[in-house]
Amino acid sequence: MQSMVLHPAVMKTKSMRVSEGSGFAASSALQTKELSVFYGEHQAVNQVSISFRKQSVTALIGPSGCGKSTFLRALNRMNDDIDQCRAEGEIYYEGIELHSERVNLHEVRKQIGMVFQRPVPFAKSIFKNVASGPMRHGVKKQSELEEIVEDSLKKAALWDEVKDQLNTSALRLSGGQQQRLCIARALAMQPSVLLLDEPASALDPVSTAKIEELITQLKADYTIVIVTHNMQQAARISDETAYFYMGRVVEHGQTGQIFTNPLHEQTAHYINGRIG
Ligand SMILES: Nc1ncnc2c1ncn2[C@@H]1O[C@H](COP(=O)(O)OP(=O)(O)OP(=O)(O)O)[C@@H](O)[C@H]1O
Ligand SMILES: [Mg+2]
Repeated sequence: MQSMVLHPAVMKTKSMRVSEGSGFAASSALQTKELSVFYGEHQAVNQVSISFRKQSVTALIGPSGCGKSTFLRALNRMNDDIDQCRAEGEIYYEGIELHSERVNLHEVRKQIGMVFQRPVPFAKSIFKNVASGPMRHGVKKQSELEEIVEDSLKKAALWDEVKDQLNTSALRLSGGQQQRLCIARALAMQPSVLLLDEPASALDPVSTAKIEELITQLKADYTIVIVTHNMQQAARISDETAYFYMGRVVEHGQTGQIFTNPLHEQTAHYINGRIG
């Protein structure tokens, strides 16, 4: 069978080939196959198979504790950092299975960036917050770092607000600005996928609107997966929605269909506020 080289940047060796027999769809940036995640004996994610289309926004919704964050963290192997947490099943990124021993974890997290519910800027300058990732990955030239910082802050719709204070502490920014800074920090790594875990739930309505607008803009260049408890937000910004319940995906489809004509009664109950 013919095989092809796909996105070798995440590989430790550039020669790994991925068989077309894996069934990976080229229109997907990321795809899971029967992905399960356990904390010790407790199974938090149960055989989830889902694919995320390139340049689309997918919202993950579902009641508290149903495994959304666990699933999201599994996608760039962030759960590896949690004791007793282990995954079974497969995750394909650009056709490469991310649990393979030959995958470089730093590259995975660089290309599949993550932003959390509470912004956690480093206690450093705005400039250093954005520049430190690329510096860690070997960018040394000041002019190049300046370019990356400006570009990332512009993409995160924060540049105009901070361009005259790049050397002040990031901790002096508002919550909404800090969250956009965290998005800029992820973008500075030149990811292709962004995982956002309730990125606006700690923010005021104006900051939330900015984040939503930003996500809609970023969709042109990135694949975005966002966890949200805000049904209006999911309806406004996502192309596809997946409803999680007790570790499983009950339903996944076009957001319009999920919100107006869900296949499962349970999905309708959740969206209408009767579950969760
Ligand atoms: N670090 C951990 N150690 C052990 N169990 C965990 C850990 N994190 C989550 N869990 C458990 O895994 C299950 C799924 O949790 P998870 O945080 O993924 O849910 P969630 O859907 O993101 O919930 P929420 O909407 O409240 O953020 C829960 O039963 C939770 O108690
Ligand atoms: Mg969560």
